[in-house]
Amino acid sequence: MVVYYSGTGNSAHCARIIASALGDSCTPAFEYIRNGVAAELSSARPWVFVSPTYGWQLPRVFAGFIRSAALAGSREAYFVMTCGSEIGAAERGLRELCAEKSLDFRGVLEMVMPENYIALFSAPGPEEAARIVSRSKPVLDAGIDLIRRGEPFPATRPGALDRRKSGIVNRVFYRFIIKDGPFTATDRCISCGKCAEVCPLGNIELRDGRPVWQGRCTHCMACICRCPAGAIEYGRSTRHKNRYFLSE
Ligand SMILES: Cc1cc2nc3c(=O)[nH]c(=O)nc-3n(C[C@H](O)[C@H](O)[C@H](O)COP(=O)(O)O)c2cc1C
Ligand code: SF4
Ligand code: SF4
Repeated sequence: MVVYYSGTGNSAHCARIIASALGDSCTPAFEYIRNGVAAELSSARPWVFVSPTYGWQLPRVFAGFIRSAALAGSREAYFVMTCGSEIGAAERGLRELCAEKSLDFRGVLEMVMPENYIALFSAPGPEEAARIVSRSKPVLDAGIDLIRRGEPFPATRPGALDRRKSGIVNRVFYRFIIKDGPFTATDRCISCGKCAEVCPLGNIELRDGRPVWQGRCTHCMACICRCPAGAIEYGRSTRHKNRYFLSE
């Protein structure tokens, strides 16, 4: 079973391709995470967990989902981490997670996809994004082939800097960078409610037709990137930047 978490569509896109190529089912973690419900899932075939990279690690919200889930059936677990550039030393945390869940870690595939983290960086425009997605396809195909043959993904070879990024920098990142205070909705807001609907943490309430962020954000960028009116900003840092979302 392919199980995915995705803020702006990259990981959902990869998950659907993998599931379709393997003839396997594809399960979003969204409702479980949003409702705070521990999943009860069963798979006769290997688990394939697909998600973005947050701070050179599996997103905490997705790691929490896996940790709390009852996973029956296969003990093999593959991971596919989409990223803007690299996953650092994420493999170590994945091995630890698998050990906790009595899963056999079968490797992690680093999938470079368009950058979505517009609160800190910039997302590519549509043409560049399409080029990046098409360049990633052979990597995904090779990964699918390995899963099909029952072989592990090649081990990643993180250096000292990678370990620092996935370690101390990740912890600092969660402690100081991930916050929703700077989000605002401008007068372009048409009160459609899309931002509240797409938030995986149910962190947005509409008051008088305008979004109000509730302090439980994980910086997935879904609200700001999926607002149909381009009405959401993150302080001054997102002004005039591309919004990024990969639809099906
Ligand atoms: C909070 C946050 C942290 C991120 N950290 C990293 C990172 O450490 N390394 C990286 O290459 N990309 C990073 N990115 C980029 C995303 O991992 C990448 O664009 C991913 O494909 C988005 O997947 P999604 O569309 O399924 O949400 C980050 C994005 C966000 C929103
Ligand atoms: S998605 Fe945009 S337009 Fe719709 S309610 Fe949220 S901020 Fe307003
Ligand atoms: S508030 Fe926005 S950025 Fe934060 S978790 Fe929800 S959708 Fe993602």
